[in-house]
Amino acid sequence: MKVGVVGLGYVGLSIAIVFAEQGNTVIGVEVDGEKIEKLRKGIPTMFEPGIKEHLEKALPNLHISSDYSSLSETKFIYVAVPTPTVDGRIDLSHVEQAAISIKAACPQSVIVIKSTVVPGTAKKISRLTGMDVVSNPEFTREGHAIEDTLHPDRIILGAERQELMDELEALLGFSGAPILKASNEDAELIKYASNAYLATKISYANELAKLCEKVGCDIEVVTLGMGLDKRIGPQFLKPGPGWGGSCFPKDTQALVAFAGDNSSRLKIVEAAIDVNNQMVQHAITLIKEIAGGNLSEKRIGVLGIAFKEDTDDTRSSKSIELIERLFREERAQVNVYDPVAKYSGNCTKYESLSECVANSDIVVVATEWDGFRSALREVEKPILDLRRILDLKEYPGIYAIGLGRKGTGGSPMHSKVTS
Ligand code: UGA
Repeated sequence: MKVGVVGLGYVGLSIAIVFAEQGNTVIGVEVDGEKIEKLRKGIPTMFEPGIKEHLEKALPNLHISSDYSSLSETKFIYVAVPTPTVDGRIDLSHVEQAAISIKAACPQSVIVIKSTVVPGTAKKISRLTGMDVVSNPEFTREGHAIEDTLHPDRIILGAERQELMDELEALLGFSGAPILKASNEDAELIKYASNAYLATKISYANELAKLCEKVGCDIEVVTLGMGLDKRIGPQFLKPGPGWGGSCFPKDTQALVAFAGDNSSRLKIVEAAIDVNNQMVQHAITLIKEIAGGNLSEKRIGVLGIAFKEDTDDTRSSKSIELIERLFREERAQVNVYDPVAKYSGNCTKYESLSECVANSDIVVVATEWDGFRSALREVEKPILDLRRILDLKEYPGIYAIGLGRKGTGGSPMHSKVTS
């Protein structure tokens, strides 16, 4: 099949690569000339494990241009352009502009909206262009973009005309994932509802983590026990400094605003946002406890700048909020290390973890990079593990403290699952 993809960011590039790898002819349209040049040469434009190999395999079938006319005679054209949240509401201008350009170049085609958009958007775009519009929201995670596109848990399609969804099934069927065919509006809301639910699950774990610290419980053991219930499941219960990134913060806000615009309230999502907004303050309180009060002049080594592991993305990163607040509000000296992410704010960036640790009085694990665990094993300095990556029993004595567990060292008695 010949398929178009407009916008080659995280999502667009991932689907373009996977469709091309599956033997389809993919026409990618991108406005950024530098990005086009790099991609044509097989140079990835984003940090994503394994992407280079996939891009190389995809390149013979992947044709990238800035010109919408290259999309002519393409039946399905995906739109994967950004939908930022501006003043709490979703900004659809990029989607609308892409749709107008598609109409001018290829009016007989079908627009497939991959971008995250509020219910009613597909219909709006259809009215704007007079074209058929299918909704096909994405559920890939940064750091796992290709893997999640190849093996999604489910595929959601929404359209007015059933036959368009049936045709798209041929393109998407390679994964063998269950396909739910629904209305455009249902498909659009499924995306927001899923992200908001996952964010709520994490906020719930984070709130429980704070309770655990007060009452001498260990959140890791508590969520382990909760997650063994199949109705709950173990995922997205990991406590941390709060959820960040380019999706959860903007999508939860946009969903709350969308509900408000439709005379509804999503109080649980509002509470999840509220809990999330308090997590950095909680981290600062814990660091102050370790320091015995004042952080002024203290050297705090923050490990991890990105919003999570396996990415260099720092958008809405809680780590950056922590760095800046430590500097501005606590007058601490902040040292940072991250294996891939870059940041040039109020901190000293080290090229090696050991150097960063050596020059710090207190170490804070802010991103769950795998390598941090072994690198910190021999460190004999106070460590605040906001991501619970350390096995606290390897730190007998006074050195490590984990979010959601007060007290240090020792092995939790009940943390082993036996079959
Ligand atoms: C998220 C969703 O997981 C994807 O399904 C969705 O497609 C994507 O948003 C999107 O809308 O584009 P992503 O933002 O890449 O993906 O990151 P996640 O892995 O979901 O993590 C989000 C945040 O939650 C991170 O800050 C992470 O550290 C945090 N998190 C995650 C926790 O604190 N605890 C957890 O147990 C899981």
